[in-house]
Amino acid sequence: MKKTLTTLAAGVALAAFATMGASAKTHKLTYYCSAQEDWCQLMAKGFEEATGIKVNMTRKSSGETFAQIKAESANPKGDIWWGGTGDPHLQAAEEDLTQPYDSPMRKELLPWAIAQSESAGNRTIGIYSGALGYGYNTELLKKNNLPEPKCWKDLLKPEYKGFIQMANPNSSGTAYTTLATIVQLFGEEKGFEFMKGLHKNINNYTKSGSAPIKAAARGENTIGIVFMHDAVKQAVSGFPIKVVAPCEGTGYEIGSMSIIKGARNLEAAKKFYDWALTADVQSRALEVKAFQVMSNKNAKSSPAAPDLASIKLINYDFKKYGSSAERKRLLKKWDDEVKVLPQ
Ligand code: G6P
Repeated sequence: MKKTLTTLAAGVALAAFATMGASAKTHKLTYYCSAQEDWCQLMAKGFEEATGIKVNMTRKSSGETFAQIKAESANPKGDIWWGGTGDPHLQAAEEDLTQPYDSPMRKELLPWAIAQSESAGNRTIGIYSGALGYGYNTELLKKNNLPEPKCWKDLLKPEYKGFIQMANPNSSGTAYTTLATIVQLFGEEKGFEFMKGLHKNINNYTKSGSAPIKAAARGENTIGIVFMHDAVKQAVSGFPIKVVAPCEGTGYEIGSMSIIKGARNLEAAKKFYDWALTADVQSRALEVKAFQVMSNKNAKSSPAAPDLASIKLINYDFKKYGSSAERKRLLKKWDDEVKVLPQ
């Protein structure tokens, strides 16, 4: 009897050790983030504090993160990809770079977040949404005697030459959303004519999507094509930035989250995923002036946030413009026909 008990005790101890081993495995998370840097850091720190899981975070733009996950796919290093525009997350799903996950938090999410997930076989999910537009530095505009732009087409005026900045659509999800929005608004042929005209006025294609409005806030650029919430962030921070919802209408993003296929820390990735979808965590976006519309029905929003209901939004075709073939085709066409032109 005694012997049996000892054997049993040994068995229990062994089992406990095995569990410890498993939980040790979940004690780190490699986190790729494509939202704004301060929000990425807040999420990393918040998750560490909530769970004790050590987070190793890298911030890169949406297109760059997609390229990294693809390059690492034979030997995946990342566990979770949080933030950034939805299109490259959809492309990653289609290219089998991410894996399905059915989170218990889904029931708390708004329909557009679930639609994003369902269109990708549950390999991604919507975490926030925001409309595209632009912002300008009111002081620089005045100083240079420039008219106030109100529409997309205003940006083609020759007097804006050298005064506009946007990101490169290959690296940035914001800029890809711009390209896809213009094509959907004006049709492909006229849309590319627009991008060529705009190219003449661009002073720099940045890597990151929000860089043009940060530069405008610092007085180093005049007009930045960005998500409206990124421009609002600069305005409420006290910079002389005016936010514009272009008169013709505009596109929008469904910022997304995906678990990387072959994640080494899968349990930690799932934990992060569920945690990131809670109302409390999503409400913390306001601490870093991230004014997107969050996907949890109960997340807090700010009165400063752009009101999507009052903006003329196009019926952005996420399925088409997030498909691998269409993203590749449009980006190549932009490289071949727009980027190469003299300015
Ligand atoms: C900013 C915005 C996000 C967007 C992201 C895309 O951080 O606040 O809403 O998803 O840009 O970044 P990217 O650098 O890929 O354009």
